[in-house]
Amino acid sequence: MIRHIIAFIAGALTLVAILYMAKLDIEAQKFKHIKEIIEKSKLEVPVSKKAQSSQAVSKSAVSQKKESEEEKKLKVLKEKAGRMSAFEVSPLYRRNCASCHGINGMGVIGPKLIGKSEDEIYKALMDFKSGKRKNYVMFGLLNNMSEEDLKSLAKEISSFEQKLKESSK
Ligand code: HEC
Repeated sequence: MIRHIIAFIAGALTLVAILYMAKLDIEAQKFKHIKEIIEKSKLEVPVSKKAQSSQAVSKSAVSQKKESEEEKKLKVLKEKAGRMSAFEVSPLYRRNCASCHGINGMGVIGPKLIGKSEDEIYKALMDFKSGKRKNYVMFGLLNNMSEEDLKSLAKEISSFEQKLKESSK
């Protein structure tokens, strides 16, 4: 009976995780799209020029302030878009792990994975899979993954820290 309840909770958690991941995916696509739009608009009208021309139309201080605020917002958005699309992860990680550990391993429901070595991650995964380390969520997930999958995931995740540093430069 208790086993059933636990299995049900684990199932529900996984479902929530999958839904959340789908949302992340859509957001990443959105950022890519925004980045493209920004890049395009840069080619046609540089932001500063656009600001100048609209200042000429209406010289009120209010609109000037609005322009610079918009420029700032645009800059933040552009940086975010750049970071999001610079951080590519394998479909294996994105589909199975990103929901709980974050698209860059920063952690959401599951703990932060950044900063762990390949060996540490691989050992943790093998321990979950074998049941040596007890966690129903991780066990259910890793149960039908091959050792090769776990190895490549461990390798990929251990490279996140460096990747994050590079993408935030
Ligand atoms: C449904 C949520 C969920 C998903 C999906 C998930 N994890 Fe986890 N993960 C957890 C939780 C919760 C823990 C903490 C368990 C514990 O410490 O007993 C954990 C722990 C870990 C740990 C050990 C971290 C540590 O600090 O020792 C590793 C490594 C890990 N997960 C990797 C992965 C990988 C790789 C995937 C994809 C195959 C994945 N996880 C998918 C929830 C999840």
